[in-house]
Amino acid sequence: MARLLMLSSVILLSAYLTEQVHFLQPEYINKLNEEISTWEAGENFPPDTPIEYLKGLLGSHGVEAAAKGPFKTQDSNYNSLFHIPENFDARKKWKRCKTIGMILDQGNCGSCWAMGTSSAFSDRLCIATDGEFNELLSAEELTFCCFQCGYGCWGGYPIRAWEYFRTNGLVTGGSYDSQQGCLPYYVPPYLDEDVPTEMNHRCVEKCYGNTTIDFKEDHRYTSDAYFLKPDSIQEDVLVYGPVEASFKVYDDFYNYKSGVYIKSENASFLGGHAVKLIGWGVENETPYWLLVNSWNENWGDQGTFKIRRGTNECGIDKSMTAGVPVID
Ligand SMILES: *[C@@H]1O[C@H](CO)[C@@H](O)[C@H](O)[C@H]1NC(C)=O
Ligand SMILES: *[C@@H]1O[C@H](CO)[C@@H](O)[C@H](O)[C@H]1NC(C)=O
Repeated sequence: MARLLMLSSVILLSAYLTEQVHFLQPEYINKLNEEISTWEAGENFPPDTPIEYLKGLLGSHGVEAAAKGPFKTQDSNYNSLFHIPENFDARKKWKRCKTIGMILDQGNCGSCWAMGTSSAFSDRLCIATDGEFNELLSAEELTFCCFQCGYGCWGGYPIRAWEYFRTNGLVTGGSYDSQQGCLPYYVPPYLDEDVPTEMNHRCVEKCYGNTTIDFKEDHRYTSDAYFLKPDSIQEDVLVYGPVEASFKVYDDFYNYKSGVYIKSENASFLGGHAVKLIGWGVENETPYWLLVNSWNENWGDQGTFKIRRGTNECGIDKSMTAGVPVID
C-alpha cells in the first residue's frame, strides 16, 4: 500500500513538473547565466506561470509587416541636426513629459502593439506641444475600436495603429482604474493563473473615465504613419520623440533582468512583441537600444530593457514605426 501511494505521488509529481514552463525554472535561469555575458537573467514570472499567458503577451505582427513598408525616406527637419549623441535617454531630454518613462501593464491581453504605439504617440504629442499635452492616449480605444488594426487582445499591426491615428485619431485614456482621460485601459493587470485571457471588449464611443470630456472632440491625430530605415531611427527620435519597436521574442527574454540582451544560443522563438524605444547608448562596448516594456515595473530592469543595437537583433532594427502628431 505504501509503495502504491509512493508510486502514485511520483506520477502526480512528474505530471505537475511537465506542466511547468521549462524556461521559467531556476535550473534554466542558472544555466542561462553561465552562458550569457552581456546581460543577466533572473525570475520575473513565478515558475508555475502558464505558457498560454506568456505567449498571449506577444501580440505584434510588426516584424513581418516591416518588409512591406511604407518607409519614411526623408524629413526636412532631420537636416537641422549636427550630430547624433553617443548616449540618449528621452526621459532626460524631455523631463516634463511624464508619459515617456511610464511603465504600462497590458494585463492578460496581447495588446502590446497598442501599448507601444499609443504611448509613443502620447510622448510625441507632449514633445510637440512643449508639455501642454501631458497624459496618456487611450490604448483601450486602439485595442478595441481599431478593427483594421488586427485582432485586439489577439494581436495587431503597429503600422496600422499609426494609420488609425492619422485617419480616425485617438482619445485620451490613462491606465487601468485611473479614471484619467476619456477611455482608460479596462483590462486589469494579470495577477494569477485563474484569470482567463481577456475577451475583446465592445468598442465604447463615449467617455467613461473623465465623463466631462467630449468623445469626438478629444481625438488627436498624426499627419502620417511610417516604418523607419535603420539609419534614420536616431534622427527621428531626436526630432519627434519615442517610436514603437517590434521584435521576435525567444524564451530566454522572459528572464531578462539587466544589461544588454542578445538572444542566447539555444533559445526558442515564441512570437512577435511590440514595445517603445526611448533611447540608446553603449555598455561595455556593446551598442544598445533602450526600451520600455508593458509587462509592469516588476519585469526586467524596472520595466525597461536594453537590446543590442546595429545588428538587427531579433529583427528590431528593421521593425520600428512612428508618425508625426498634428498640433492645432
Ligand atoms: C476632466 O476633463 C476636464 C476637461 O478636459 C478637465 O478640465 C478636468 O481637469 C478633468 N478632470 C480630472 C479629474 O482629470
Ligand atoms: C546549445 O546546444 C548545443 C547543441 O545541443 C550544445 O552543444 C550547447 O552546449 C548548448 N548551449 C547551451 C549554452 O546550452
